[in-house]
Formats: sequence, structure tokens, C-alpha cells
Amino acid sequence: MALTLVQYRFDVVLHYVMVSRKTLFTTDGKQTTIAQLEERIQALEASKTQYPEVTFLSYKDRKRILVTGGAGFVGSHLVDRLMLQGHEVIVADNFFTGRKRNIEHWIGHENFELINHDIVNPLFIEVDQIYHLASPASPPHYMWNPVKTIKFFILGLARRVRARFLFASTSEVYGDPEVHPQKETYFGNVNSFGPRACYDESKRVAEAMCYAYAKQERISIRIARIFNTYGPRMHMNDGRVVSNFILQSLQNESITVRNTPYIYGTGKQTRSFAYVSDLIDGLISLMNSNYSSPVNIGNPDEYTIEQFALIIKDLVGANSSLAFKEAVTDDPQQRRPDITLAKTLLNWQPRVKLIEGLNKTIAYFRNELLVKHHSERNVYFPTEWIHHSDLSTTVTVTSASNLREEF
Ligand SMILES: NC(=O)c1ccc[n+]([C@@H]2O[C@H](COP(=O)([O-])OP(=O)(O)OC[C@H]3O[C@@H](n4cnc5c(N)ncnc54)[C@H](O)[C@@H]3O)[C@@H](O)[C@H]2O)c1
Repeated sequence: MALTLVQYRFDVVLHYVMVSRKTLFTTDGKQTTIAQLEERIQALEASKTQYPEVTFLSYKDRKRILVTGGAGFVGSHLVDRLMLQGHEVIVADNFFTGRKRNIEHWIGHENFELINHDIVNPLFIEVDQIYHLASPASPPHYMWNPVKTIKFFILGLARRVRARFLFASTSEVYGDPEVHPQKETYFGNVNSFGPRACYDESKRVAEAMCYAYAKQERISIRIARIFNTYGPRMHMNDGRVVSNFILQSLQNESITVRNTPYIYGTGKQTRSFAYVSDLIDGLISLMNSNYSSPVNIGNPDEYTIEQFALIIKDLVGANSSLAFKEAVTDDPQQRRPDITLAKTLLNWQPRVKLIEGLNKTIAYFRNELLVKHHSERNVYFPTEWIHHSDLSTTVTVTSASNLREEF
């Protein structure tokens, strides 16, 4: 008993000595000082992801917004904008063509949530607005599983929660147009059984479904007919003309230009390309408008594919030559949006010039090609983030080289 008492007193004295010397024992018996612990806490706090200041919106103005396909090219830029505006954003994506990298800078933010979800299955959440972008968008991706491409729809959720629903439709609803430029009133010229039909016709039937729901279930709908869009975070290998030409130029490979069966000459089919930030402006304006008929969102500056290939080659400074290949089935021969409606209704028009947008996209692709290890991440940050005055203290990246310059 006396021995135990002595031992107890000895322990108490030792404890006070240790504490007074600011020394502790860790569970594995290692000795560590409070100063060391303080250092570790500081390091942990410094490594915590920090976010740019998002606008503060009152409860009344802040919306809960679902972006399906929010990890994809267009979706991730939309997420950036909505987050910076101060809304609560939920992304539902199955990562078929999207990447976590596109939105990882928001993971952990209290206004942001990411759900790994295939939108052909029901989703039970409460939201005020839905931007429905989930869908494979490039020909190799949508032709990979044509049946599934046709199945996309999520209007049941909009009906249940009475959310406003914006559908990302496409200029492909005009098919290979016989009317030029294309107005929203043009009904299109689509082959219903060609290789592109799974995409073109599914977007057409989706528009029809939106109107059926609007009429029958009184859902508030918006239809954006999106024309070709490009920018950072595009997939390198999605087979679309912008990514193909940039990649081929950066690697000094020959630039593949398709023949034009109906027009005299080669590479004479036309396209009009919008930079992604312009598209996002248009989508948000449309969502917040009170107009529910389809609206073209695109850039009316039209180029032949051959001109476009030469512009990219020059911007990259490549030695590539043009290689003319056989035409692909149902490739539209001309494409230019008539944007009178968007100008009048939404006071919207594209602002980014082709050369400016292409330079940013080329810089992104150039960085993408430099990546050799998983840790070297080519992360594109929103422009507003880069311009944020407290950038040096608000953004923590694993290595300085990962914070690429604004493209
Ligand atoms: N980029 C363009 O030029 C363009 C032109 C016209 C229309 N659009 C439309 O805009 C939308 C976005 O296109 P994008 O270029 O960003 O394509 P993208 O492939 O980069 O993005 C599509 C996203 O949807 C996701 N997705 C696909 N299937 C899904 C599923 N079953 N469940 C959940 N998520 C799924 C993908 O993982 C990806 O993140 C698409 O609906 C597309 O049809 C795009």
C-alpha cells in the first residue's frame, strides 16, 4: 500500500515536471514538445484546401442548383460561375466523359456537393433549378452506346420538386441544314437512322419531352440550342474538330480535314465556334429569363473547316500539313446560328474573339501534353479565381508548378 502511494506521488510529480517543461509522451512512447505539436497544427491548417471568396447571397436570393454532367467540359465552367455567384451547387455525374479534376477545386466547400450518379436512375433531392447537361457530346462518345444516349432524362425530378429545368440541346437538331443561318423556327433536316441519329434525334425528342412536361405538368422549362463550343477542359481525344486540330498541330502531325461531298472542293464545310465563357453567360441568362421556347446560343462567326485548320496551325506555330480524308456520314455541310432571339430576349451575344479563345485553349492543351505523372495536374482555375486579389493566400496547391497560368 505504502509502495503504491509512493509510486502515485512519483507519477504526479513527473507529470508536473513534464508539463512545466512543455514535454508530452505520445501513445507510441515518443517524446514530443508542444512547440512541435503547434508546428504540426499550423502545417495541417496551411494544407487545408481554401476557396476563393464566393459572393454572399441571402437565404432569399441563394438557390439550390443541380447541374447534371457538371464534371464535364461545359458543366464544370457553369459550376464555377454559379459557385462564384454564391449559389448552392450540386453536381450529379457518372464520370463517363467528365473528370473530378474539373471541379475538384470546389470539393469540401460548404455550398458544393458532388454525387456520383447515373442520371438514367431516379435522383431524390430538393433543388430550385436544374441545368441538364449530362449526355455524351462528341460523336465517338455518343456512338459508343447509342441506346443509352437516347435514354437520358431527368424531368421526373423537375416535376416532383417543381424546379425550373434548362435542357442543353444542340445545333444538331437542325441536322444537315438546308436553311442558312439557322433560326429557331427552322425544323431541321435530320437522318433518323444514320450513325448520328442517336444523338440528334434524342435531343429532338428531349425537346419534345420538355414541352410535353411543360404543358401537362406545368414545369418551367428552358431550351438552349448550343452550337459548337470550345475552351479549356475540353477532352483531348474526343474527336471534335477543335481538339483534333489543336492536338495534331501541337504534335506537328498532319491536320485531318474531311472532304465535303456536296460542296465543290475539300474542307469547305463550315462551322461557327463559341468560347465556353460566352456559352455560360448565355445559359445563365436564359435560365433566369422568362422565355421557354428554344434559343440558339452560339457564335455566328463562320469559318470553313480548312480556314479553321490553318488558323490553329498558325497560332500553334506548327509545321503540319493538311490531310484531306473521306467525308463522314451525315456531317453537316454548314452551321451558323442566327442569334437575333438571344440578342433581343437575353441581351446576350458572344464577346470572346476566336483568336483569344483559341490561344487559351491551346495553352491548356499544351500543358495537358506536358503532364507525365499523376501528381503533375493540369488544373484550369476559373478566371475570376485567378483574378482574386488574395490568390496567394486563398489557393493552396500541392506544388507551385501545378498552378498554371491563366490560359
Ligand atoms: N460542347 C459542345 O460543343 C456542345 C454543343 C452542343 C450541345 N452540347 C451539350 O452540352 C452538354 C455538355 O457537353 P460537354 O461538351 O460539356 O460534354 P462532356 O462530355 O464534357 O460533358 C458531359 C458530362 O455528362 C456526364 N454524363 C454522361 N452520361 C452521364 C450519365 N448517364 N449520368 C450522369 N452523368 C453523365 C459526363 O461524365 C460528363 O461529365 C451535353 O448535353 C451536350 O449535348 C455541347
